[in-house]
Amino acid sequence: MADATDLLDAGERLGREELRELQLERLRASLRHAYANVPFYRESFDKAGVRPEDCRSLADLARFPFTTKADLRENYPYGMFAVPRERIRRLHASSGTTGRPTVVGYTDNDLSMWADMVARSIRAAGGRAGDIVHVAYGYGLFTGGLGAHYGAERLGCTVVPASGGMTARQVQLIQDLQPAVIMVTPSYMLTLLDEFERQGVDPRGTSLRVGIFGAEPWTEQMRHEIEERFAIDAVDIYGLSEVIGPGVAQECVETKDGLTLWEDHFYPEVVDPITGEVLPEGERGELVFTSLTKEAMPVVRYRTRDLTRLLPGTARAFRRMEKITGRSDDMVILRGVNLFPTQIEEIVLRTPGVAPHFQLRLTREGRLDRLTVRAEARAGAGPEAREAAARSICAAVKDGIGVSVDVEIVEPESLERSVGKIRRIVDLRTQR
Ligand code: DLL
Repeated sequence: MADATDLLDAGERLGREELRELQLERLRASLRHAYANVPFYRESFDKAGVRPEDCRSLADLARFPFTTKADLRENYPYGMFAVPRERIRRLHASSGTTGRPTVVGYTDNDLSMWADMVARSIRAAGGRAGDIVHVAYGYGLFTGGLGAHYGAERLGCTVVPASGGMTARQVQLIQDLQPAVIMVTPSYMLTLLDEFERQGVDPRGTSLRVGIFGAEPWTEQMRHEIEERFAIDAVDIYGLSEVIGPGVAQECVETKDGLTLWEDHFYPEVVDPITGEVLPEGERGELVFTSLTKEAMPVVRYRTRDLTRLLPGTARAFRRMEKITGRSDDMVILRGVNLFPTQIEEIVLRTPGVAPHFQLRLTREGRLDRLTVRAEARAGAGPEAREAAARSICAAVKDGIGVSVDVEIVEPESLERSVGKIRRIVDLRTQR
């Protein structure tokens, strides 16, 4: 295999200074494009009293107003587009759980840039031209399937467009077609693991070498579990429809130390989620993106609600972001304590006797919210092991997070399995 650095594209070879120059030039052009062609941006810039020309340095971006999911919803379906509809070659829609979805659009150039970024991501993950790539992200309005697909083709791979679902057949396809790379949500990878075991096939004996997992938060413990059980490298891919889809940031397989941001196309900031103030590198807050090269739907300071921090580059000159710990809207506030599903994941995955499947159930008794962690027993774990697991999870949550929860150890294979993005929180509180 060629040394990874021989394979870097022109963008990845830029030094920090050249990169900053390119970012500023692209940022200015993108702000001009948004202002000239999208009435929403014209109004919001005017209201804030800023013009694209006011952006003379990268730091000046902080003077521009934010864009939120609500802004996209209000301009549904085509109001955020900066080019005539006829130039839009494809639409996707984001997985909104409530209300209207948000629609995003791509020109030919946008689709090509997206394919380049996913190709770059697969390569950073350890995939190579000539590899067979099994794509088990859902195909359709969700950006996962088609995004991964065209990126893998762009890199020169052979793509198996399996999409999500029909789990037994996925296992068959992996055995028969011999892919080196799988792209899937981490939770669906666990569903596949169960199926391998059900079919009596050793998951460590497959042709798979690399798994590229994203679309939902997952922890180091989950990485460890998947790497061990499948004997593969497991790396993280991040993205969101509003910015492009998968391929905004990717963890490099040689370092596995957070995700390298493809910041020649997507300019990141981390802001205080409450005040909106830009935070210095290294401080945790909400991730915000400004697109630098998008034509159909430029985004200016789009608030992702994803919580992370920016870190200096390691495997590349580009900056990294820490693995996402959660979204501000997935945060449970339980008797004044903030809790994210990933914190529970860490605990469940290190507890003996339980499988890596869990769910958080929120209920309300009188005025008191209760959280029940429902974790699945491993096959063969008897009553004593289950009892010990429940006590251990309960104590770890109390010690580590500082709040009391109920723990219920349920039968093996009784919790709903994911075929795409998993839903961890089941909120049964009637009034809020
Ligand atoms: O989930 C795009 C994608 C597809 C990314 C496949 C990676 C792989 P949306 O449906 O618009 O797009 O959802 C975007 O998913 O704001 C995060 O909250 C979450 N998310 C995506 N990737 C990660 C990740 C796709 N690696 C939303 N870690 C984002 C944690 C992630 N959360």
